[in-house]
Amino acid sequence: MLGKFTRFGRGIRWLVTGKPAQRRRARQELARIAAGLFGDFPLSDDYKYWRQDREFLADYQRLSPGNAFSQDRKWTLREYVRLSNRLTGDLAECGCYQGATAYFMAQASTSGTLCLFDSFEGISRPGAGDNADDDQIMPWAEGDLSASESVVRHTLESFTNVEYFKGWIPTRFAEVSHRRFRVVHIDVDLYQPTRDSIEFFYPRLVTGGTIVMDDYGLMTCPGARRAADEFARAHGIDILELPTGQGIITRQAD
Ligand SMILES: C[S@@+](CC[C@H](N)C(=O)[O-])C[C@H]1O[C@@H](n2cnc3c(N)ncnc32)[C@H](O)[C@@H]1O
Repeated sequence: MLGKFTRFGRGIRWLVTGKPAQRRRARQELARIAAGLFGDFPLSDDYKYWRQDREFLADYQRLSPGNAFSQDRKWTLREYVRLSNRLTGDLAECGCYQGATAYFMAQASTSGTLCLFDSFEGISRPGAGDNADDDQIMPWAEGDLSASESVVRHTLESFTNVEYFKGWIPTRFAEVSHRRFRVVHIDVDLYQPTRDSIEFFYPRLVTGGTIVMDDYGLMTCPGARRAADEFARAHGIDILELPTGQGIITRQAD
């Protein structure tokens, strides 16, 4: 216990007066101490190569200022797009908000078109499928997370292969029913649009293509998980749940 307090004192000193490397080390050490004290902490080790990628971190900071909580998810999504570049097919995102994840998808992609589906009026009205088992979870409200199409167009103005489909999911899906997709990002937080997105896009994935669900493992989005689990059960497929909270469905050969 004494050792913990000594490290705590050094951590605080480095945090306040240390060089950048010491400040970072101090942050990691304080997190370790907190993990020890509480028996749990929602962080893993800090020293990872991707955490040194200055270009990514600068893009993230510019696109998602004030949101420190989804760097790992955005990095992971970008990796799925990069890995899919040898496949044929387009990309799609259901739920793009201000365009941060769409930016990383477009940035990592070397071919095809990125199709963006969003109401651009925020989330739809939550239904019975969105009820949480735990009443500590704050429910979503219609219109939360609203961003305009012009904001997203501005964010993505340096990319040419982006198409916009404004409307409530699934109303615009029919316009891309003839296409095939290699990565589809689903991030709509609720049961109904998640269900409709998976049902539409899964059969249109190329072999080896993936659906990346941003909110599958988040307790704040019970409807999204429910919709995905129902689909997986009905079709005999497995979902990979990542520690980031994302859920991954991969299309195997028929
Ligand atoms: C969590 S945000 C997306 C965040 C974005 N993927 C990112 O990480 O940068 C959820 C988005 O889903 C959209 N959305 C929610 N329900 C929808 C529905 N039923 N139809 C269309 N868009 C919907 C909202 O407008 C919002 O932009």
